[in-house]
Amino acid sequence: MAFKINDTVSWIGKIDWELRKFHGQQLSTYRGSSYNAYLIKDEKNVIIDSVWRPFAEEFIANLKKEIDFASIDYVVVNHAEPDHSGALPFIMDLVAPDTPIICTANGAKSIKGYYHKDWNFKIVKNGEKLSIGSRDLIFIEAPMLHWPDTMMTYLSGDNILFSNDVFGQHFACEGMYDDLVDNSELMYESIKYFANIVSPFNKKVLKKMQEFKEMNLPINLVCPAHGVIWRKNIETIINKYEVWASSYSENQVTLIYDTMYDSTRKMAEAIASGILIEKPDLNVKLFNSSKSDNSDIITEVFRSKAFLIGSPTYNNGILNSTAAILEEIKGIAPENKKAAVFGSYGWSPANIKIISEFLKEASIEVILDGAKSQWNPDTNALDKCVEFGKEFARQI
Ligand code: FEO
Repeated sequence: MAFKINDTVSWIGKIDWELRKFHGQQLSTYRGSSYNAYLIKDEKNVIIDSVWRPFAEEFIANLKKEIDFASIDYVVVNHAEPDHSGALPFIMDLVAPDTPIICTANGAKSIKGYYHKDWNFKIVKNGEKLSIGSRDLIFIEAPMLHWPDTMMTYLSGDNILFSNDVFGQHFACEGMYDDLVDNSELMYESIKYFANIVSPFNKKVLKKMQEFKEMNLPINLVCPAHGVIWRKNIETIINKYEVWASSYSENQVTLIYDTMYDSTRKMAEAIASGILIEKPDLNVKLFNSSKSDNSDIITEVFRSKAFLIGSPTYNNGILNSTAAILEEIKGIAPENKKAAVFGSYGWSPANIKIISEFLKEASIEVILDGAKSQWNPDTNALDKCVEFGKEFARQI
């Protein structure tokens, strides 16, 4: 059902309470999500974005109750990823045949790549304005936040920023506004979203936030394409994006390990105790990567000033879950974080070398020689892990 933001602007998206995985099976979304699309009525009527394909028919049926499709003048595609463009072919079947799709040059390429249609693309550039009657739309290109095609659209008069993925969260809520939801849940989902989706492009984020501030546009509402509409904490989320994009860390250390017969787990716990002996104020968290969600671990790595990764040697390599989380860490390319490696082994400490080299190739600073322990660590071996933890804490 549509939701009126004001007399002429409506939310026309879909709240997806059931979503638990996104980007295929890659990203966890424990609190569901929403695909936020918007309708603006003026002398020219505008749709901004749509919904994921599974909800296209529902989207169209609901939108028919709000507007005659023949009276839609522009379809703005801020971002072509299918969670926002899935219903586009359905819209284009119902609007006048030459209705312009407003998007960036990269947007047109992506839309053509997905839907193989030569619709009437109207390419816009950064800062371009379009009058829709009593108000203007201003298009703000935001390349790599988080795709090359991404842009945001600003509505003058009402001072609404339709920011697409930027400032979004995978967070289903019926209340729609940021001040109507649990703030700690909202901010956790915001940082999780940033860490997993946006942080690989931190430099672009910083540049865009700076440019955006210099545009000096008054903003009454930020309407992203996922999650809540920001009306109370607009400055907070914009400032958070600047802070998160600036080599962010909290006073936290995260240990990630997998284990076969508890040897590497015991090492992790001994190292953690050493860290805390040296720096009792640190927030130290441990995750068994085979039992924990990778998107959550990535969020915790993003929040940490340093992290440690452990796996036993397995068939002259490392365990699956360690390889998987290493790949994800490389993907977000965390800046300014120190790391160290640990793990048990039977006859070959290949684990230490493999993990250390992977981290170094991912441009992560590995401090200390990895802590290794043969077979089941005894008291002496665990004492060495405690000392390793103390030294790690001293060096971060
Ligand atoms: Fe929510 Fe990049 O799509």
